[in-house]
Amino acid sequence: MTGYVCIACGQDWPADFSGYVCRTCGGNLDVQYDYAAIRAEGDPKRWFTAGPRTDQFRFGALLPVRDLACAPPLRVGATPLYLATRLGAMAGLDAVYLKDEGLNPSQSFKDRASAMIMARAVEAGVAVVAGASTGNAGSSLACMAAAAGRPCVVFVPERAPPAKLAQLLIFGAWVIAVRGSYDDAFDLCARVCEVKGWLNRNTGFNPFTREGKKTAAFEILEQCGDAPPDRIVVPTGDGNIISGIWKGLKEAHALGLITRLPRVDCAQAEGSAAITRAVHRLRAEGSVPPDGDWRSVTIEPVPACTLADSIAVDDPRDGLAAVRAVVESGGEAVAVPDEAILEAIKDIARHAGVFVEPSCACAWAALRALKAQGKVESDERVVVLLTGSGLKDIASARKVAGAPLVVDPDLDAALGALDSVSFEVD
Ligand SMILES: Cc1ncc(COP(=O)(O)O)c(C=O)c1O
Ligand SMILES: [Zn+2]
Repeated sequence: MTGYVCIACGQDWPADFSGYVCRTCGGNLDVQYDYAAIRAEGDPKRWFTAGPRTDQFRFGALLPVRDLACAPPLRVGATPLYLATRLGAMAGLDAVYLKDEGLNPSQSFKDRASAMIMARAVEAGVAVVAGASTGNAGSSLACMAAAAGRPCVVFVPERAPPAKLAQLLIFGAWVIAVRGSYDDAFDLCARVCEVKGWLNRNTGFNPFTREGKKTAAFEILEQCGDAPPDRIVVPTGDGNIISGIWKGLKEAHALGLITRLPRVDCAQAEGSAAITRAVHRLRAEGSVPPDGDWRSVTIEPVPACTLADSIAVDDPRDGLAAVRAVVESGGEAVAVPDEAILEAIKDIARHAGVFVEPSCACAWAALRALKAQGKVESDERVVVLLTGSGLKDIASARKVAGAPLVVDPDLDAALGALDSVSFEVD
């Protein structure tokens, strides 16, 4: 890496910059590389297969770690991309692909960022890493810290879902359950890190979270073969995943790996739609900020209220980068109600065989809404990023899953119960 650039004011900072955010305006930073030098090295495929790793760390030339042996010894990324024909047909779409990130070590996309932060902590000799989380970022940090043999501290809202809390605790993280929201946990974590001198993994605030997340874009491009997809739909809370995906796509473009950039679409819950509202407001005002100055774009916080806990965010911590991703890519931003999210959990499970938590179901519900609004054509190739396993939140799944047929241990009783069932091939 060669340094950083501020996402808000455009100020450059050197590679040995010691802060997390821009010292001029407080904006989040984007890590920069010498793309011309990487390009000059020759065959693009070579940059992406450096070393013995088969996971996200094989994108070595575009990662901010020198010694890949510092990365946790777990397989992060390298997740499958499935063509979901029957699911796509439900929305009148010919080619819907599902990127199943629930197959990461702690069952969520967040492992990509946590592994990157842990690799940097090990390389820099930092002892303690801390982070705030709605649940997944923390459980993934705990998982990576356990694999690396390092202590970690995770700040979560007290009402974090039980499965995520159990993961945190079983991996041995020190868990601070904050009587407040995710946003309260985020701010408290930052203050404690400052006093203690710990490495702060907070999403977006730490620029290296985006570096881990962008690797999913490289994988998607590889998995799509010769032609990139037309769009990638991303479930969005803080906005760090969508901005990471967009950064990965732009880097692939800068290096000549693709000649056409996919759009990125922001999917949010209606009860937590600060980024979506900001995109719509900006578009209504003319799509680019006056004088090209992104500092003038405001993202009004909302009182977040949705059952999709992973994307329940009052004040999106990487909101500006997310708004830029949608606007620059020509993508859409859409918010869907919780009822549509619950139905989408069932649809993805029953028509594609993937069990996801509500936040990811939001992405599918959003794509259906966009298609219904005429904003997506039937023949577009669309990737839906499924960011976390359904086992993270079984309470939500059970709301729409139905109930078993309960019978006595008796053949007639079993046959009688089955009489009412009509078996259909989907
Ligand atoms: C499963 C899942 N999906 C989506 C998101 C949203 O990511 P971001 O907050 O970067 O927008 C999260 C964040 O916690 C998550 O855990
Ligand atoms: Zn700045």
